[in-house]
Amino acid sequence: MGKTLSIIKPDAVSRGLIGEVIKRFENNGIRITAMKMLKMSKKQAQGFYAVHREKPFFESLTDFMSSGPVVAMVLEGDNVIEKNRTLMGATNYKEAAEGTIRRDYATDIEKNIVHGSDSPETAEFEISYFFNQFELVD
Ligand code: CMP
Repeated sequence: MGKTLSIIKPDAVSRGLIGEVIKRFENNGIRITAMKMLKMSKKQAQGFYAVHREKPFFESLTDFMSSGPVVAMVLEGDNVIEKNRTLMGATNYKEAAEGTIRRDYATDIEKNIVHGSDSPETAEFEISYFFNQFELVD
């Protein structure tokens, strides 16, 4: 059973898309085992996206991610990292497959509705960034 971190980004929260995103996870056999709403500080966003600190979009990305509330979730299931990435679609919504979350709702390569961990190592770091062991249900 794998685990991954999902974040419903500020654009999706402000547009009233929390339920829509969660429905897609639940309809596809993914279990939510932890969930919280929070507003990241700029520093917290910079730490979360530290792997991207040299990228030209880092400043703008961390401004955006700290601009409003997000919903962070731990998702569990077989092949959940891959499954979540398939449901999200490509980072660039213009390249995302039909029927994916980003294709249906993203408006911009940055404002792309959701984030999902890209490997088991990243998932471990990202889950522990927002949740302690007592906040995950069995
Ligand atoms: P995410 O999956 O959260 O990982 C990094 C984020 O950086 C990405 O989604 C986008 O929100 C944002 N981003 C902005 N510009 C780019 C870009 N050119 N390539 C990749 N990610 C980008």
